[in-house]
Amino acid sequence: MTRWIADGIDAALEWSVVGSFTRIGSALRRRLDHWTALGQRRLDGRVVVMTGATSGLGLEAARAFGRMGATVEILARNAAKAEATCAELRRDTGNPKLGFVVADTGDLVALGRAAAELLARHPAIHVLIHNAGALDDVRQTSPQGLEATVASQVVGPFLLTSLLVPALAAGAPSRVLWVSSGGMYSEPLSVDQLEMSASDYDGTTAYARAKRAQVTLAELWATRLAAKGISVHSMHPGWADTPGVARSLPRFRRVVGPLLRTPADGVDTLVWLAVEDDAALQPSGRFWLDRRPRALHRLASTRRSDTPQERERLWRWAESKSGLRI
Ligand SMILES: NC(=O)c1ccc[n+]([C@@H]2O[C@H](COP(=O)([O-])OP(=O)(O)OC[C@H]3O[C@@H](n4cnc5c(N)ncnc54)[C@H](OP(=O)(O)O)[C@@H]3O)[C@@H](O)[C@H]2O)c1
Repeated sequence: MTRWIADGIDAALEWSVVGSFTRIGSALRRRLDHWTALGQRRLDGRVVVMTGATSGLGLEAARAFGRMGATVEILARNAAKAEATCAELRRDTGNPKLGFVVADTGDLVALGRAAAELLARHPAIHVLIHNAGALDDVRQTSPQGLEATVASQVVGPFLLTSLLVPALAAGAPSRVLWVSSGGMYSEPLSVDQLEMSASDYDGTTAYARAKRAQVTLAELWATRLAAKGISVHSMHPGWADTPGVARSLPRFRRVVGPLLRTPADGVDTLVWLAVEDDAALQPSGRFWLDRRPRALHRLASTRRSDTPQERERLWRWAESKSGLRI
């Protein structure tokens, strides 16, 4: 099939949303773009640090990295669950190099401790993946008093990235990957609206705004880290059947049902971004689905909000909320 036919079908899928985000999208694109199988890739001697690997997509990705021979460090909020996950992954993959550190990604103090542990264990880190995420209907606050969605999915990952830069630079060419969501397409970039108050909190909106901020921050990090040989990308997994979706979106899960992707399908692009040659992924800072870079906006209103000034404000906001610049 010629390239332009493949591009046309891909564009039609993307336009339809449902065709793109469900398993229809990954099944068709796998054939159209002749995806190479990733199972034979090796990551021996590479260190992968990943948040949110005790469930769903993260668990599936950690299993893939374990099978590839990587040293995998899970950052998890529940020590017992992390220990059980590591034991399960060691058993499944035959790879003993699976460890964990404990922190809630919304707890800046715990993240500082976890980062120090990681740096002590690994002078060089090759892949850092910000995957932990949840859609919470009830507003909660982090130990530092921030709304928990934005604390755990924006401010915490921002801090963790900063703290691990020395090891990522030592591991260069290295990369930082962010698992965002197609839900971000619905929300503008608005720093003032990012942290939702008790009176206006809505879990779906807070989640989508945090996911929009992740994608923008990934772009901003890409520019800042390029000289150190660290690439930064964001991606979204489409719609995949995970415990998180079953818990937070039970009705959506029933409606989309068998069209949901498997977790393995959902993480294919994430695993690919972690193992692909750096040159093939340049320029750094893009947003991916199904192994292709995707548009940052689908709506004129969100596109209008995405100005250089607002991007700069987001960076300053993340710095100040993470305590990196007061
Ligand atoms: N599944 C989808 O269709 C879909 C679509 C778009 C985006 N995503 C994104 O993909 C990522 C993985 O989601 P999933 O569907 O695999 O959900 P999941 O099954 O609920 O897994 C989420 C993982 O993140 C961890 N986590 C959540 N909040 C955390 C926190 N504050 N601190 C530390 N760890 C935390 C969870 O830990 P515990 O085990 O302790 O709960 C779990 O390991 C999320 O970022 C989500 O937004 C998923």
